[in-house]
Amino acid sequence: MTEVTKQQRNEPPWPKPLPYTANILHRLARGWKTWLGLLNEWDFRIPIGEINILGLPVFLINDPPLVRRILVDEVENFPKHPYTLWILEPLIGRAIFSVNGEEWQWQRRLIDQAFQVAKLNRVFPSMAGATEDFIKRLHEHKSQQPIDIDAEMTLVTADVIMRTILSRPLSEGESKKIFLAFSRYQRKAGRALVLRFLNLPKSLIQINLKNDAKIIRDWIHIAIKERLKKHAEGDETSSTSMDLLDCLIMANDPETKRKFSEKQLVDQICFLFLAGHETSASSLGVATWLLALYQDIQQKLREEVLLVSAGKPVQEQLEQVEIRKLNYCSAIFNETLRLYPPVSFFIRERIKTDTNFFVSGEKSKCPLGALLTLSPWVIQRHENHWEDPQVFKPERFLKTKESRWVKEAFLPFGIGPRKCPGAAFAQQEAVLVLAELVRNFKVSPAKGHIPNLTGRLTLRSSNGIKLLLQKV
Ligand code: HEM
Repeated sequence: MTEVTKQQRNEPPWPKPLPYTANILHRLARGWKTWLGLLNEWDFRIPIGEINILGLPVFLINDPPLVRRILVDEVENFPKHPYTLWILEPLIGRAIFSVNGEEWQWQRRLIDQAFQVAKLNRVFPSMAGATEDFIKRLHEHKSQQPIDIDAEMTLVTADVIMRTILSRPLSEGESKKIFLAFSRYQRKAGRALVLRFLNLPKSLIQINLKNDAKIIRDWIHIAIKERLKKHAEGDETSSTSMDLLDCLIMANDPETKRKFSEKQLVDQICFLFLAGHETSASSLGVATWLLALYQDIQQKLREEVLLVSAGKPVQEQLEQVEIRKLNYCSAIFNETLRLYPPVSFFIRERIKTDTNFFVSGEKSKCPLGALLTLSPWVIQRHENHWEDPQVFKPERFLKTKESRWVKEAFLPFGIGPRKCPGAAFAQQEAVLVLAELVRNFKVSPAKGHIPNLTGRLTLRSSNGIKLLLQKV
């Protein structure tokens, strides 16, 4: 095998960027089905890209010092773009993810307080319970038939977050109704952004999103009302059995003494439910597909799990101490997040003109109100930042030298003050699910199926991820 073909073998399929076009309408048309279509091939080589979309100046920032400046050093000068709020508002209202300034600061203080309950050792039993049910469901599946592992990962991650927020598993009836509404919302929100670029009024486009959002919000509102009633009756749980909802209800901002109102609780829980399962499901589905494509990596992972679990029967679940030793499994997950980041685009707005925009100290060419795009999808596959950028190589995350890559070139969870507070939660959950999966099954590709990866609010496959499972 020549060097070139060896390398190609290690480049898992991905929706490649299309040739350069300066025609904005053509680019928007490409972005209608998937935001990845908005990109040109050229964007993976340049430090900064610039276009004007019908009067709106839009920049793509790949340059690490500038990424740092926007996300870390001058975060208050580059808040989340209003389009973030606008696309998500029907579903999550004014929850933490899309607001800025003081409104964000006090919410973050309360969320950080409530997240004490989501500490890794406290949530481990919820993760273990949901993973046990997931493995049972897979064992019930006929082994000759392809299984949609993307749908299964959606179910297990939603179950984990449900147990963490509400202390109960997700029922089958709930999951069907809610997932369908989420997936319709995703599809419509993807298109809504393109329509907004075409200057269609916000109110008109939001109407289209409200029906699906209402199904999810009403479902969450009922659970919150019941819990608030219990709290009002003085029936509060002890601090050891408190779940995330209890903590959010009781969280109290030490600076302003503010607490979340009923409406704000619905906003936050809707967001946490979305953030807590969509992203994890996306990465776990893709990670399993990669394990099916690379049997050698899958086998190496299985050997690591067997070594760590030291001959324990497969019926006995892995424990947290064992999960923490699975370094190769973590590396596989990180490499999956690098090549297929669930949140592929962050958008920020430039609101201050008194600083030079470009790192070199050049005078600013970036006008007030410009939309700045920072894309993990582009930066993490960029040829300036990564050796063999398109190659799936988990080993790159095992090396210990700091100089492996620039810090700003790996940002699946964001960086800086707005970095995801659920990162450690997601890592623990992913390692547990993948480790239990390979202990129980050998996964292989289903003949003729290639996932159609589509970039919207999160990166998901529009035709599922179909794989074959065989008991080991
Ligand atoms: C693989 C899984 C996950 C990925 C890739 C991910 C990624 C992200 C990203 C990229 C952001 C925004 C960063 C920015 O705009 O600068 C974010 C924010 C956030 N995520 Fe996650 N996330 C994951 C799982 C979770 C989980 C499990 C939770 C909760 C249990 C969570 C809760 C949040 C919250 C509350 C924010 C808002 C933070 C803020 O605005 O201050 N995420 N996440």
